[in-house]
Amino acid sequence: MDLKEKIDKNSLPIHVAVIMDGNGRWAQKKGNQRIFGHKNGVKAVRDTVEGAAELGIKYLTLYAFSTENWNRPKKEVEALMSLLISTINSETDTLIKNNVRLLTIGDIDGLPSGVGKNLKELISKTSNNTGLSLILALNYSSRWEIVNAVKDIITDFQDNPIEINKITNEFFERYLHTKDIPDPDLLVRTSGEYRISNFLVWQIAYTELYFTEVLWPDFRRNDLYEAIINYQQRERRFGKTSEQVN
Ligand code: FPP
Repeated sequence: MDLKEKIDKNSLPIHVAVIMDGNGRWAQKKGNQRIFGHKNGVKAVRDTVEGAAELGIKYLTLYAFSTENWNRPKKEVEALMSLLISTINSETDTLIKNNVRLLTIGDIDGLPSGVGKNLKELISKTSNNTGLSLILALNYSSRWEIVNAVKDIITDFQDNPIEINKITNEFFERYLHTKDIPDPDLLVRTSGEYRISNFLVWQIAYTELYFTEVLWPDFRRNDLYEAIINYQQRERRFGKTSEQVN
């Protein structure tokens, strides 16, 4: 039986988030420049997106560029940005054909104008698609997102102070970039690193975490299936007891 058949289609994670890690090490192991790893990472992105869409996953969030990634060597940052543009352009037709809706989280206006412009066009072209929502986290970090939410709340209420007991989780979430997106059910991190790296820190309060040694450029839909099968063996209690949830 292949892996896909082992997945229970009635208890799929609604939202899968992925920290795509290990591109640099993958390339270096092959005696290549780090950017070679990022280029091959695009193949993993393609296969994972296709696999997720085919399975019926509703939301897939990929951590593509963090606010901290600007600290990488200038050459690598430039190469990543041009890879983003070329990928957006080359994948446009496939995304439209496959009914994928593209969304982003992060400071898109802080990206080079070419990237921002191409992204906004693709977001608008796919906005009516009803299949998988593919969310690219770009120029994103959780601390940035949370601080930004606080700034926006203060701006909105500076002339008309809000009643303190109106500040609830639900209220605060309306100020996050993920405001219309359910929290991830499953977070996958590749490359054998056990860190969250400033990714969706608020949103993963009750997310199931899955770590794999596979380096991102080698990740394929079968690795996604393995993560989902593992997820389906877990008991999610959300703070309750096992008896309560059963
Ligand atoms: C982490 O590996 C990967 C990134 C910072 C970039 C991810 C980008 C891509 C997969 C390509 C483009 C993506 C899209 C969505 C079009 P790393 O460089 O930190 O690897 P290392 O830990 O081995 O150094």
